[in-house]
Amino acid sequence: MISAHGRKKDFPIFRKKIDGKDIVYLDSTATTQKPKKVIDAIVAYYEGANANVHRSVYKLADEATELYEDSRANVANFIGSKQNEIVFTRNTTESLNLLSFTIGESLRKGDRILITSMEHHSNILPWMRLEERGVRLDYAGFDDEGHLNIEDLKSKLVKETKIVSITHQSNVLGTINPIEDIAKIVKENGSTFIVDAAQSVPHMPFRVREEYDFVAFSGHKMLGPMGIGVLYGKYDLLDSMPPFNRGGEMIKDVDFHKVIFEDPPVKFEAGTPNVEGAVGLSAAIDYLKEIGMDEVRRHEKRLTSMTLKGLDDLKSVKYYGPRDPDQRGGVIAFNVKDVSNVKRKLEGRNIKVDHFYHSHDIATFLDERNVYVRSGHHCAEPLMRTLGLSGTARASYYVYNGEEDVEAFIRSLGEIDVQR
Ligand SMILES: Cc1ncc(COP(=O)(O)O)c(C=O)c1O
Repeated sequence: MISAHGRKKDFPIFRKKIDGKDIVYLDSTATTQKPKKVIDAIVAYYEGANANVHRSVYKLADEATELYEDSRANVANFIGSKQNEIVFTRNTTESLNLLSFTIGESLRKGDRILITSMEHHSNILPWMRLEERGVRLDYAGFDDEGHLNIEDLKSKLVKETKIVSITHQSNVLGTINPIEDIAKIVKENGSTFIVDAAQSVPHMPFRVREEYDFVAFSGHKMLGPMGIGVLYGKYDLLDSMPPFNRGGEMIKDVDFHKVIFEDPPVKFEAGTPNVEGAVGLSAAIDYLKEIGMDEVRRHEKRLTSMTLKGLDDLKSVKYYGPRDPDQRGGVIAFNVKDVSNVKRKLEGRNIKVDHFYHSHDIATFLDERNVYVRSGHHCAEPLMRTLGLSGTARASYYVYNGEEDVEAFIRSLGEIDVQR
């Protein structure tokens, strides 16, 4: 259960005061805070089981290997995959780059990749690099409320489209894309389907489906430590792919001029892996399972509804993305209208001016009240260009946030509303 006040007691960072006041952390889309259980699991690993994993014969290394592989099993169980379909990476970005530098390498001039205009740079740049060899990158658009335009997506899904890679939940608009329906459409076309689940696996029940070829997400966005990420891949696909990095334990045999690689997933885990990260991620998953992902989603939806209602009452605030909390996650990007005289005068002379205060100024104003929101382009510049904006401020929620955080956020923004 998550109470209306969230689960701050489980998170040591919320004991911290800044300028003598509580912190209101509203930036979980960027990274999440860590519960004591995760911190303790990492400390326990270093105090009681640290050794390098795989292929050692002594007991301590066996213990470390067991912890590392248990984590893989826990991740697999969490998303409903097989254990040998879980590759540990550094983060979502590395998972998607792994795909670009493996399956992406088989693409030829004239082939196409389809993504959307609401992607994070991490799901754009790995594909954009293939344009250099004549691969075409198509973008499906979204409507005024931030819903993906499915007709546009369908029209851009052609026989040359070899890869479709789409975010499950936008890190700016909050839009939850109908990923299961999209997956069906994509598979009917015979394309490889990749889900960027960086913002969905942490926030809602998520199960791998037959139509998903690959799924990428990050540990640090789901209460785990930084530096551990996941790539789920269908085993047969992983098996048919070349490795991404080379070296260390990812081999069966090495001769002077010949190598036989290990089977997946180890084939993709070159060098000493992030055992600490895997242990911490597993503890984070245990924590989330204990709450239940339905409950996580319910709680965030409630805070989101409350926020949207609060923002609707502030005349100078514009927020982006779906208005219906059922169709969006707990991330709200917004701007505050600048109605100053100078701007009005400039506009009166037909001089084009930005209609909003700079998002950094809004974030700084909120920071002065210990309300921590992100500002800028949120690593989604094509999305910002589509909206005709240089940036937005963005508040986002997780299991530790409560109604008091929403109230502090709306109250602080209200001060601007009153001041104008
Ligand atoms: C939708 C989405 N994809 C990818 C990423 C990249 O995640 P990471 O920085 O953990 O690699 C993010 C990070 O905010 C994201 O929100």
